[in-house]
Amino acid sequence: MPSIILSFLLIMLASVLNGCVMTEEVKRIKASKNNQDKYLEITKGYLNGKQIFIRSCNTCHPGGKASPTGPSIENFARKFKTTNELKQFILKGKASMPAQTILTKEELENLVQYLYAEFQPSNLN
Ligand code: HEC
Repeated sequence: MPSIILSFLLIMLASVLNGCVMTEEVKRIKASKNNQDKYLEITKGYLNGKQIFIRSCNTCHPGGKASPTGPSIENFARKFKTTNELKQFILKGKASMPAQTILTKEELENLVQYLYAEFQPSNLN
């Protein structure tokens, strides 16, 4: 008889402990989700052109100049008749230039404005 009571108590204890562990796990998942949401809220459409350029372009086009991995982008507008052409080029990439897949619409606009202002001052319209 006592062994039945003992196993009953053990089962109770186990499920209570398990409950605690689960709660902790759920809390951690929630916290991480909150952080992710906050990050998205802060960065969504928020990075300005210069920040995006430094994050995604400067390695291959340092300060707009040529490097072993990318050509100079000064005077790029001779190649792109419209800002839309330039945007499509940036989104798709070409050869070893990677496609940009995480830019929001606003960020792409910010980046393009920055490119014209910084590397193509006379063509800014
Ligand atoms: C991994 C290196 C790399 C990265 C990162 C990169 N590019 Fe490029 N980029 C290239 C290469 C290589 C070319 C030449 C592509 C071709 O025409 O074959 C190029 C071409 C260009 C051109 C055309 C230049 C011209 O006048 O012919 C522009 C404009 C440009 N990149 C802008 C950007 C922008 C804006 C970013 C960031 C969003 C970026 N690149 C990120 C490698 C890179």
